[in-house]
Amino acid sequence: MATISRLHARQILDSRGTPTIEVDLYLTDGSMGRTAIPSGASTGTHEALELRDGDKSHFLGKGVLTAVANVNDKLNSALAGKEFASQEGLDAFMLELDGTANKSALGANAILGVSMAFAHAVAKSKGVQLFEHIKDVYGATEYKLPRPMFNIMNGGKHADWSTDIQEFMVVIENRDYPEMLRAGAEIFLHLGKLLEKKGLSTNIGNEGGYAPGFANNEEAFAVISEAIALAGYELGKDVFFALDVASSEFYNAETHTYDLKTEKRSLTPTEWMNLIESWMAKYPFTSIEDPFAEDDWASWVEFTARNGDKVQIVGDDLLVTNIERVQKAIEMKACNALLVKVNQIGSLTETFKAMHMAESAGWHNVVSHRSGETEDVSISHIAVGTAAGQIKTGAPSRGERTAKYNELLRIAEVI
Ligand code: PGA
Ligand code: ZN
Repeated sequence: MATISRLHARQILDSRGTPTIEVDLYLTDGSMGRTAIPSGASTGTHEALELRDGDKSHFLGKGVLTAVANVNDKLNSALAGKEFASQEGLDAFMLELDGTANKSALGANAILGVSMAFAHAVAKSKGVQLFEHIKDVYGATEYKLPRPMFNIMNGGKHADWSTDIQEFMVVIENRDYPEMLRAGAEIFLHLGKLLEKKGLSTNIGNEGGYAPGFANNEEAFAVISEAIALAGYELGKDVFFALDVASSEFYNAETHTYDLKTEKRSLTPTEWMNLIESWMAKYPFTSIEDPFAEDDWASWVEFTARNGDKVQIVGDDLLVTNIERVQKAIEMKACNALLVKVNQIGSLTETFKAMHMAESAGWHNVVSHRSGETEDVSISHIAVGTAAGQIKTGAPSRGERTAKYNELLRIAEVI
């Protein structure tokens, strides 16, 4: 039982310098929860609506003052003095108040801000850490430190299209979390030195990974492989590749082709599938996210039939953390893992429902940040408290990314 006393939202900046919403929620016992909402760049078209002001004279139209006002006025008057027995009770109340399918009345950013701030406040009120409270809410049977996917090379929309593939990630063979973090960081540091030696750029993209740019996507695997060896790790034994292709961003729906801009060629879905499979034949992959566009269901189904027993196939833009799309993907056997992004759906309860649905189908869950992030570390707690087992939160670089990795180090000390 928790009674909300008041809400206060403000507009702050995210890691791209774009406004986002931060919400403070006070309970009547004095406990306060605070959270800030992230934002995507390569967003799925089926995501819940992130409410932005659209006033071009204010932050180029990206302000969130309407969402802030919705919290401070509408949600505050509806919620102040109300008692909620559960997270689900609060989230259901807000969904009804909003009344739209995609949260466009109040804004998914406003609703999620209140949903998450409530979880933070209730954890404080119980005198526990957020991950402990989340374990209760989710109904997990254990805590689990997640295995990270380190996005050490950025491309696509996150890095001025230096490659078509958005995220080249490394996954460390399962070991203690601090050791996995160390390995990820050592590979990242060696990659930086290697790029410098090759005369390539060491500037970084939105998620902290390097973005030197190559004539074709495959060259990136060769360079990262070299960095892994220089760091003293063995590819295929200590370290594996994972990809987020984010292919909706270069899929051409009119021609039904995947248009590789860096390689200056357009591939049919079959040719594109063959190319991905040729990479899989050469390099060890544990996970491939969004290999096909968000509505190219037929290619997803075929790819999963051909490779689902060999590799984790993760739906991000395909699923948008939405139970209707997760259900459809389970029925169609379109993938075998869910990328979990709280702001794609806009409440903790709906996020957890999607995760439970994925788990019941025998899928894995990967808890994820967005390319536009803040210092907020809630996702580290969500990963541990739901025992998801995997997290992707960028390179071990840039404060908004290391904040999550460092929070996991702190959690690792107490569980
Ligand atoms: P986004 O990218 O936050 O820009 O959507 C992350 C991802 O695609 O996984
Ligand atoms: Zn993605």
